[in-house]
Amino acid sequence: MKTEDINIKEKLYYKYETESTNIDAMNCENAPDGSVFMAEIQTRGRGSRGRVWQSKEGNGIWMSILLFPKMNACDIPKITLTAGLAVCKVLKEAGFDAGIKWPNDIVISGKKVCGILTEKKNERVAVGIGVNVNTESFDGELKERATSLYIESGIKRAREELASLIAESFDKFYTILKEDGFSALKEEYKENCITLGKKVKVIQPGEEYRAEAVDITSDGELEIDRDGMRVKLCSGEVSVRGIYGYV
Ligand code: BTN
Repeated sequence: MKTEDINIKEKLYYKYETESTNIDAMNCENAPDGSVFMAEIQTRGRGSRGRVWQSKEGNGIWMSILLFPKMNACDIPKITLTAGLAVCKVLKEAGFDAGIKWPNDIVISGKKVCGILTEKKNERVAVGIGVNVNTESFDGELKERATSLYIESGIKRAREELASLIAESFDKFYTILKEDGFSALKEEYKENCITLGKKVKVIQPGEEYRAEAVDITSDGELEIDRDGMRVKLCSGEVSVRGIYGYV
């Protein structure tokens, strides 16, 4: 990746190899709000629910945006939803039929192309964004669930421009979130959310059930219909899967 081609408004911290850009963002003293941390390779890329995020050289965009948000801890998940919307819009503008699987996986052709992991340390929040750009194939169970922009289009692309567009898009939507709250982003989020209207399996500690995804609330919760009863689900507490596959 050529850092001189990454057009990022805020400070850019680039390493060829790192354990995780989220760790870099949370630990970098004196880095200002909005700093962007990127790496070519992550040796221990962190995925959600303690999983490993495969982050090989030349394959993807592994970036974290450092924020010092002045919001209640319970509002932090809205930043993750906002990042999902920002990435989804960039991929759509690049010609992909991308959608958001609530809360923040970006999906193309029913497979995940981007994952987002937000982590908090004291007053710092790292919004970690991983996009599979040039990956040629996935092994094992990932084959069924993951895709890349290359697999979808047959075109390998320079990641610098895409990374800049994602940072810019996040900046735009995050400003709206800070100024007007998630309710100002809700309609646009809903338009891009492919979970809505689908039959889903809800997985909670000690409980698994089927329901239909019907709405997104102004707080970014997923509203489901469970046997005729409306229930609101908070991201982070539950996992939602499609009945017939990942989406
Ligand atoms: C997920 O499992 O869906 C979340 C994946 C998040 C991956 C990104 S890559 C950049 C940042 N650094 C990490 O270690 N993880 C996130």
